[in-house]
Amino acid sequence: MGSAYPTPNGTPASGGAQDPAGDAPGAGAWKDAFRVGDDLIDGQHQTFFRMVAEAQESMDRGSVEGVGRHLNFLAAYAVMHFRDEERLMALSHYPGLVEHRRIHQAFVAQVAGLLKTYETDPDAVTAQQILPMIQDWLVFHILGMDKQLQPWIGRMGKP
Ligand SMILES: [Fe+2]
Repeated sequence: MGSAYPTPNGTPASGGAQDPAGDAPGAGAWKDAFRVGDDLIDGQHQTFFRMVAEAQESMDRGSVEGVGRHLNFLAAYAVMHFRDEERLMALSHYPGLVEHRRIHQAFVAQVAGLLKTYETDPDAVTAQQILPMIQDWLVFHILGMDKQLQPWIGRMGKP
C-alpha cells in the first residue's frame, strides 16, 4: 500500500502498512519500528499495546469485569489519543489530516458499537473477537498511517 501523502521534502512517503504476521506469537508487543518521533504519541501508542495485553490477561483469567473495564478504557483512551495526534498533525502541517481524522472517527465508532454489543449481548460479540481486531487495527494504522507523520514531525520548528 503506497502513500498518497507527500513528505515535507517532496518525495513520496515510504512504506505502507507492513504485514505484522511475521511477529506471530509475540504479536502485540510494542516495537521501536512503531515510533513516529513524538514522545507523547509514541507513549500513548505504547499504552494501547499494554492495555490490550492486560485485557487479554483478564480474558485468560476469565474476568468478564476486567475485560469490560479494559475495553472501556481503550475506547475512551482512543478518543483522547486521536485528539492529541490530530493536534500534532495540524501543528506539523501534515497534509493528510482530514483523511486521517476520518479513519480515526470510523475506528472510534466501530469500537463503540462493539462495546455496546459486548455489554448488552456478550454472546453476540466476544472479547476474543474484539481484542485482536483492536490489536490488528493498531499495528496496521501505526505502520500505515501514523508513520507518515514522522517526516513532518521531524521538520517542526525548522525553517
Ligand atoms: Fe492515527
